[in-house]
Amino acid sequence: MVAVAFYSITGQTKKFVIKTGLEAHEITDELPQYEMKEDYVLITPSYQDFMMDSIVDFLNFKDNKKKLVGIIGCGNRNFSDLFAQTAKKLSVTLKVPILYLLEFSGSTEDVQNVRNIIKKLNNGETTTQKVEKPKELRNKISFLSDYR
Ligand SMILES: Cc1cc2nc3c(=O)[nH]c(=O)nc-3n(C[C@H](O)[C@H](O)[C@H](O)COP(=O)(O)O)c2cc1C
Repeated sequence: MVAVAFYSITGQTKKFVIKTGLEAHEITDELPQYEMKEDYVLITPSYQDFMMDSIVDFLNFKDNKKKLVGIIGCGNRNFSDLFAQTAKKLSVTLKVPILYLLEFSGSTEDVQNVRNIIKKLNNGETTTQKVEKPKELRNKISFLSDYR
């Protein structure tokens, strides 16, 4: 079974995860160091790097980086080139594919699509999506690249 972990600052990502009905671990600021016991997908909102310390701590804990098999990014398209920047940076630096991108707490379609993605992973279907450095972030990968 593929597990799910997520982080949420203002509650949108959490709302999305609840809508999917998926069982998921919430990464918290109080105790980010939580060991994932199995392969998992990370659902993350996007903010400036300095706001993502809890995700950094979580990923650097035990084998959490190794067990990460995919990233789902939440954000706001008004941020234009920086849309879903956290998911994109993590994808590039950890060489883990972005499985899906959505805005805020997601539409009904987003909920269905993400459910299907997790279902496929659980059926052993691997994703073949190529990870490319997003052009808008070229040469601008900041400390998130330290995860390599
Ligand atoms: C201070 C601030 C910075 C943000 N920066 C970005 C950004 O760089 N890229 C993006 O796509 N969305 C950005 N967002 C939008 C959030 O990622 C989006 O609203 C997300 O759904 C919030 O998830 P959360 O409520 O789970 O924290 C930003 C929001 C705030 C308040």
